Amino acid sequence: MSKNIKILEEKIKQAHLGGGEKRIAKQHEKKKLTARERIDYLLDEGSFEEIGILVTHRTTEFGMDKQKFYGDGVVTGYGTIEGRLVYVFAQDFTVFGGSLSETHAEKICKVMDLAVKVGAPMIGLNDSGGARIQEGVKSLGGYADIFHRNVKSSGVIPQISAIMGPCAGGAVYSPAMTDFTLMVQDTSYMFVTGPNVVKTVTNEEVTSEELGGASTHATKSGVTHRTAVNDIECLEDVKKLISYLPQNNQQKAADLPYSLGDELREGLADIVPESSNKPYDMHAVIDGIIDQDSFFEIHKDYADNIIVGFARLGGKSIGIVANQPMSLAGVLDVDASKKAARFTRFCDAFNIPLLVLVDVPGFLPGTDQEWNGIILNGAKLLYALSEATVPKVTVITRKAYGGAYDVMNSKHIGADLNFAWPGAEIAVMGAKGASEIIFRKEIMEAEDQEAKLAEKEAEYAELFATPFEAAKRGFIDEVILPKDTRRKLIKGFSMLENKEVLRPKRKHGNIPL
Ligand code: HXC
Repeated sequence: MSKNIKILEEKIKQAHLGGGEKRIAKQHEKKKLTARERIDYLLDEGSFEEIGILVTHRTTEFGMDKQKFYGDGVVTGYGTIEGRLVYVFAQDFTVFGGSLSETHAEKICKVMDLAVKVGAPMIGLNDSGGARIQEGVKSLGGYADIFHRNVKSSGVIPQISAIMGPCAGGAVYSPAMTDFTLMVQDTSYMFVTGPNVVKTVTNEEVTSEELGGASTHATKSGVTHRTAVNDIECLEDVKKLISYLPQNNQQKAADLPYSLGDELREGLADIVPESSNKPYDMHAVIDGIIDQDSFFEIHKDYADNIIVGFARLGGKSIGIVANQPMSLAGVLDVDASKKAARFTRFCDAFNIPLLVLVDVPGFLPGTDQEWNGIILNGAKLLYALSEATVPKVTVITRKAYGGAYDVMNSKHIGADLNFAWPGAEIAVMGAKGASEIIFRKEIMEAEDQEAKLAEKEAEYAELFATPFEAAKRGFIDEVILPKDTRRKLIKGFSMLENKEVLRPKRKHGNIPL
């Protein structure tokens, strides 16, 4: 026994050294933490329990039988974040570049299986050269085993991927199927094929950073949801994100203790400008409504004509989808629709109520949008919001025009409470466009056509560019003063807390993809 204890101690010591001190120093030189340092930072102190520390690979080819490292390039196990159970794997770049072998994959699958059986979030810290080249198809099989589990866990437990180093080849598809992908600026990248293959196939010259660095995926592709300046900030983001989420789809996110008393927010009345063509920052509206400093934005730099993110309202976790008049006047386009649809579906899957703030002039017209499928992509958001059964509340702060009025959580697609501010304009289209069409003859015949158009525009605006016609029909439940918005929302979401919707049995719907 005492001999084996000594052997065990020695093995654990070796396992903790990963690929050895030299490679650890190299990792630090690149301003990256090691797998174990990352886990230590992520989890509550002393809470990590490792599973599979003594696993080694089974490959004998290419002299691999003489190169074995305990853990085989991935540290797996469970622990807590703020006292809540989470499962984690962290790839160890110091062991064969964190590459994925058959046994490495088995270790990841083991914790993924536990996470879904127990019902707790799964967090992957990725830092890997991809498939273990010495293992061939065994490695590819390992990836597919992970992908299959990602899909089976989707909508059951939250899955979060932090990309903290290279992530190449098919390896990118596991993060893509998880709920959130976070990247680290300058030290992480994701692509299906690297710059060399790109050069061979398409003759394009591109750097790793341009092709698949954090800023590329944050702004151009939308693959990453948050970008951090270093490992520590990325891990902080993971912790913060987890704080808004429930453990699984059978639970609700935990409330934070909150004492009310600040429901009236006078400042909200001063945000929307008098002129309806002037932009304003919807973040100011969000901050004016929610609990102080509680907004956690997702996809901040991608399709910034729409804002999505988590917040707390009276201590409760909510998801917010909001048009942003500061960018493209808040219009709905392909990317904004996809971004908001995906976020909506996450919130719905995990019982997070949705607040939709509307100031939208319509869908973006043009060949670029039509050829890129604004019909299908706009339909994604329409579908997602219609399908969502969580409490859904809408506040129209200013414009709600055309099809975008319907899409942005209108009463007709199942919103539970619909509010509008007194300056809201709810109509088929803007007063000028509408007047030019329906009063064309009258305007053409007028002596002063410009004056006639202005007169008709004012007439139309007076009649339709208000919230009152919609309120008359009950499409808007109440026209509220901006300063009362927070109070109304806290009470409204509280009233809706036990909402239940029964739907006919079906395998799954067919969202336009
Ligand atoms: C085995 C690997 C490896 C791999 C790196 N290493 N990638 N070992 N399989 N895929 C090893 C290196 O041999 C080296 O070992 C150590 O990890 C560190 O690698 P370096 O090259 O020294 O590090 P760096 O300069 O930082 O470059 C990192 C890298 C590069 C960009 C990731 O290593 C690289 O290009 N690797 C290959 C990437 C790749 O093509 N992977 C396959 C993708 S296809 P020593 O002993 O020197 O420390 C794929 C298919 C999946 O993944 C499909 C799923 C469906």
